[in-house]
Amino acid sequence: MFYEFVRPLICPFGEIEKFVPSKGEILDVGCGHGLFSKILAERSLDRQVTGIDPSEIKIRHARKYSHLKNLKFEVCELSDLINRKVRFDCIIVIDVLYLFPRREKGKFFEICRKLLKKNGSLIVVENGNGSGFIYKVLKIEETIMTRLFKFTFTKYEGLHFLSRDGYKRMLTELGFGVKTRINLKSFLPYPHFLLVVTR
Ligand SMILES: C[S@@+](CC[C@H](N)C(=O)[O-])C[C@H]1O[C@@H](n2cnc3c(N)ncnc32)[C@H](O)[C@@H]1O
Repeated sequence: MFYEFVRPLICPFGEIEKFVPSKGEILDVGCGHGLFSKILAERSLDRQVTGIDPSEIKIRHARKYSHLKNLKFEVCELSDLINRKVRFDCIIVIDVLYLFPRREKGKFFEICRKLLKKNGSLIVVENGNGSGFIYKVLKIEETIMTRLFKFTFTKYEGLHFLSRDGYKRMLTELGFGVKTRINLKSFLPYPHFLLVVTR
Protein backbone atom coordinates (compact mmCIF):
# COMPACT_ATOMS: atom_id res chain seq x y z
CA MET A 1 0.00 0.00 0.00
CA PHE A 2 2.78 2.37 1.05
CA TYR A 3 4.82 1.32 -1.98
CA GLU A 4 1.88 1.84 -4.34
CA PHE A 5 1.55 5.40 -3.13
CA VAL A 6 5.22 6.36 -2.89
CA ARG A 7 6.82 4.62 -5.89
CA PRO A 8 4.92 6.57 -8.62
CA LEU A 9 5.96 9.79 -6.86
CA ILE A 10 9.63 8.84 -7.21
CA CYS A 11 9.43 7.26 -10.65
CA PRO A 12 6.95 8.61 -13.25
CA PHE A 13 5.35 5.31 -14.28
CA GLY A 14 2.50 7.11 -16.07
CA GLU A 15 4.95 8.87 -18.40
CA ILE A 16 7.02 5.73 -19.01
CA GLU A 17 3.96 3.65 -19.91
CA LYS A 18 3.37 5.85 -22.99
CA PHE A 19 6.59 4.52 -24.56
CA VAL A 20 5.58 0.87 -24.22
CA PRO A 21 3.80 -0.70 -27.24
CA SER A 22 0.07 -1.05 -26.63
CA LYS A 23 0.07 -4.69 -27.73
CA GLY A 24 2.31 -7.74 -27.79
CA GLU A 25 4.55 -9.64 -25.38
CA ILE A 26 6.02 -7.25 -22.80
CA LEU A 27 8.69 -8.17 -20.25
CA ASP A 28 9.30 -6.07 -17.12
CA VAL A 29 12.73 -7.14 -15.79
CA GLY A 30 13.35 -6.56 -12.08
CA CYS A 31 9.65 -5.75 -11.69
CA GLY A 32 9.92 -5.63 -7.88
CA HIS A 33 6.47 -5.32 -6.30
CA GLY A 34 4.97 -5.45 -9.79
CA LEU A 35 3.29 -2.07 -9.80
CA PHE A 36 4.52 -0.98 -13.23
CA SER A 37 3.67 -4.41 -14.73
CA LYS A 38 0.18 -4.00 -13.33
CA ILE A 39 -0.18 -0.53 -14.87
CA LEU A 40 0.94 -1.91 -18.25
CA ALA A 41 -1.56 -4.76 -18.11
CA GLU A 42 -4.43 -2.56 -16.94
CA ARG A 43 -3.92 0.13 -19.56
CA SER A 44 -4.05 -2.27 -22.51
CA LEU A 45 -5.59 -5.73 -22.54
CA ASP A 46 -3.72 -6.37 -25.81
CA ARG A 47 -0.47 -6.49 -23.87
CA GLN A 48 0.65 -9.84 -22.47
CA VAL A 49 2.79 -8.72 -19.56
CA THR A 50 5.38 -10.82 -17.71
CA GLY A 51 7.12 -9.41 -14.65
CA ILE A 52 10.26 -11.17 -13.43
CA ASP A 53 12.41 -10.58 -10.37
CA PRO A 54 14.92 -12.72 -8.43
CA SER A 55 13.36 -11.62 -5.13
CA GLU A 56 10.79 -14.16 -3.96
CA ILE A 57 9.39 -11.75 -1.40
CA LYS A 58 8.72 -9.08 -4.01
CA ILE A 59 7.13 -11.51 -6.46
CA ARG A 60 4.89 -12.75 -3.66
CA HIS A 61 3.66 -9.16 -3.26
CA ALA A 62 3.38 -8.70 -7.03
CA ARG A 63 1.15 -11.76 -7.36
CA LYS A 64 -1.67 -9.90 -5.68
CA TYR A 65 -2.20 -8.38 -9.15
CA SER A 66 -2.31 -11.78 -10.85
CA HIS A 67 -6.10 -11.63 -11.13
CA LEU A 68 -5.45 -9.62 -14.31
CA LYS A 69 -5.69 -12.17 -17.13
CA ASN A 70 -2.90 -10.60 -19.21
CA LEU A 71 -0.36 -10.42 -16.38
CA LYS A 72 1.92 -13.00 -14.81
CA PHE A 73 4.94 -12.97 -12.51
CA GLU A 74 7.89 -15.25 -12.06
CA VAL A 75 10.87 -15.51 -9.72
CA CYS A 76 13.79 -15.61 -12.17
CA GLU A 77 16.47 -13.65 -13.96
CA LEU A 78 16.65 -12.62 -17.60
CA SER A 79 19.14 -15.36 -18.52
CA ASP A 80 16.66 -18.02 -17.35
CA LEU A 81 14.40 -17.13 -20.29
CA ILE A 82 16.93 -17.84 -23.03
CA ASN A 83 16.04 -21.50 -23.45
CA ARG A 84 12.32 -20.83 -23.64
CA LYS A 85 10.43 -20.27 -26.88
CA VAL A 86 8.91 -16.90 -25.96
CA ARG A 87 10.32 -13.74 -27.55
CA PHE A 88 9.28 -10.19 -26.65
CA ASP A 89 8.02 -7.11 -28.47
CA CYS A 90 9.34 -4.94 -25.66
CA ILE A 91 11.65 -5.44 -22.69
CA ILE A 92 11.60 -2.77 -20.02
CA VAL A 93 14.03 -2.35 -17.15
CA ILE A 94 13.39 0.36 -14.58
CA ASP A 95 15.86 1.23 -11.80
CA VAL A 96 17.64 -2.13 -11.92
CA LEU A 97 20.82 -1.64 -13.94
CA TYR A 98 22.55 0.54 -11.33
CA LEU A 99 22.87 -2.75 -9.41
CA PHE A 100 24.93 -4.32 -12.24
CA PRO A 101 28.69 -3.79 -12.77
CA ARG A 102 29.56 -2.54 -16.26
CA ARG A 103 30.42 -5.99 -17.66
CA GLU A 104 27.15 -7.41 -16.38
CA LYS A 105 25.22 -4.54 -17.98
CA GLY A 106 26.80 -5.53 -21.31
CA LYS A 107 25.87 -9.20 -20.80
CA PHE A 108 22.35 -8.16 -19.84
CA PHE A 109 21.92 -6.15 -23.07
CA GLU A 110 23.26 -9.06 -25.15
CA ILE A 111 20.60 -11.33 -23.64
CA CYS A 112 17.94 -8.67 -24.32
CA ARG A 113 18.96 -8.75 -28.00
CA LYS A 114 18.41 -12.51 -28.09
CA LEU A 115 15.05 -12.27 -26.34
CA LEU A 116 13.61 -9.46 -28.49
CA LYS A 117 11.56 -10.09 -31.62
CA LYS A 118 12.83 -8.63 -34.90
CA ASN A 119 11.54 -5.06 -34.44
CA GLY A 120 11.36 -5.29 -30.69
CA SER A 121 12.40 -2.46 -28.40
CA LEU A 122 14.30 -2.22 -25.14
CA ILE A 123 13.40 0.55 -22.69
CA VAL A 124 15.94 1.55 -20.05
CA VAL A 125 14.94 3.89 -17.22
CA GLU A 126 17.55 4.93 -14.65
CA ASN A 127 18.59 7.90 -12.52
CA GLY A 128 21.81 8.40 -14.44
CA ASN A 129 25.04 9.66 -12.96
CA GLY A 130 26.81 12.93 -12.26
CA SER A 131 29.56 14.35 -10.11
CA GLY A 132 27.28 16.83 -8.30
CA PHE A 133 26.23 16.75 -4.64
CA ILE A 134 22.81 15.45 -5.48
CA TYR A 135 24.19 12.26 -7.06
CA LYS A 136 26.24 11.68 -3.91
CA VAL A 137 22.99 11.84 -1.94
CA LEU A 138 21.37 9.40 -4.38
CA LYS A 139 24.25 6.93 -3.98
CA ILE A 140 24.11 7.11 -0.17
CA GLU A 141 20.34 6.62 -0.24
CA GLU A 142 20.60 3.58 -2.55
CA THR A 143 23.48 2.11 -0.54
CA ILE A 144 21.29 2.27 2.57
CA MET A 145 18.44 0.55 0.69
CA THR A 146 20.63 -2.28 -0.63
CA ARG A 147 23.24 -2.80 2.10
CA LEU A 148 21.70 -1.66 5.38
CA PHE A 149 17.98 -2.36 5.04
CA LYS A 150 18.47 -4.96 2.28
CA PHE A 151 15.22 -3.67 0.84
CA THR A 152 16.64 -4.04 -2.66
CA PHE A 153 18.16 -7.42 -3.52
CA THR A 154 21.43 -7.60 -5.46
CA LYS A 155 23.99 -10.35 -5.94
CA TYR A 156 26.71 -7.89 -6.97
CA GLU A 157 29.05 -5.77 -4.86
CA GLY A 158 28.52 -2.00 -4.82
CA LEU A 159 26.38 0.20 -7.02
CA HIS A 160 27.22 1.15 -10.60
CA PHE A 161 25.51 4.29 -11.81
CA LEU A 162 26.08 5.28 -15.43
CA SER A 163 25.01 8.46 -17.23
CA ARG A 164 22.36 8.57 -19.93
CA ASP A 165 25.04 9.09 -22.57
CA GLY A 166 27.11 6.27 -21.08
CA TYR A 167 24.19 3.90 -21.61
CA LYS A 168 23.57 5.30 -25.07
CA ARG A 169 27.20 4.68 -26.07
CA MET A 170 27.18 1.19 -24.67
CA LEU A 171 23.94 0.24 -26.41
CA THR A 172 25.08 1.75 -29.71
CA GLU A 173 28.35 -0.18 -29.54
CA LEU A 174 26.34 -3.36 -29.02
CA GLY A 175 24.42 -2.64 -32.23
CA PHE A 176 21.15 -1.24 -30.86
CA GLY A 177 19.58 1.72 -32.65
CA VAL A 178 18.65 4.61 -30.35
CA LYS A 179 15.05 5.78 -30.96
CA THR A 180 14.36 8.00 -27.93
CA ARG A 181 16.61 9.60 -25.34
CA ILE A 182 14.93 11.94 -22.85
CA ASN A 183 14.95 13.07 -19.24
CA LEU A 184 11.62 12.46 -17.54
CA LYS A 185 10.00 15.31 -15.65
CA SER A 186 10.25 14.97 -11.90
CA PHE A 187 10.21 17.01 -8.73
CA LEU A 188 13.38 15.13 -7.77
CA PRO A 189 16.69 16.93 -8.31
CA TYR A 190 18.06 13.83 -10.08
CA PRO A 191 15.44 12.99 -12.69
CA HIS A 192 15.12 9.64 -14.43
CA PHE A 193 16.19 9.36 -18.04
CA LEU A 194 14.50 7.08 -20.53
CA LEU A 195 16.14 5.40 -23.51
CA VAL A 196 14.24 3.46 -26.14
CA VAL A 197 16.44 1.35 -28.39
CA THR A 198 15.68 -1.21 -31.08
CA ARG A 199 17.62 -4.35 -31.93
C1 LIG B 1 14.85 -0.43 -7.16
S1 LIG B 1 14.00 -1.93 -7.47
C2 LIG B 1 13.05 -1.47 -8.91
C3 LIG B 1 11.80 -2.30 -9.02
C4 LIG B 1 10.88 -1.94 -10.18
N1 LIG B 1 11.54 -2.06 -11.46
C5 LIG B 1 10.31 -0.55 -10.02
O1 LIG B 1 10.66 0.32 -10.80
O2 LIG B 1 9.53 -0.36 -9.09
C6 LIG B 1 15.28 -2.96 -8.17
C7 LIG B 1 14.79 -4.39 -8.44
O3 LIG B 1 15.80 -5.12 -9.17
C8 LIG B 1 15.74 -6.45 -8.73
N2 LIG B 1 16.98 -7.15 -9.12
C9 LIG B 1 18.13 -7.29 -8.42
N3 LIG B 1 19.02 -8.03 -9.10
C10 LIG B 1 18.41 -8.37 -10.27
C11 LIG B 1 18.82 -9.16 -11.39
N4 LIG B 1 20.03 -9.74 -11.45
N5 LIG B 1 17.94 -9.32 -12.41
C12 LIG B 1 16.71 -8.74 -12.36
N6 LIG B 1 16.28 -7.98 -11.31
C13 LIG B 1 17.12 -7.81 -10.29
C14 LIG B 1 15.53 -6.33 -7.24
O4 LIG B 1 15.03 -7.52 -6.67
C15 LIG B 1 14.52 -5.19 -7.18
O5 LIG B 1 13.20 -5.66 -7.19
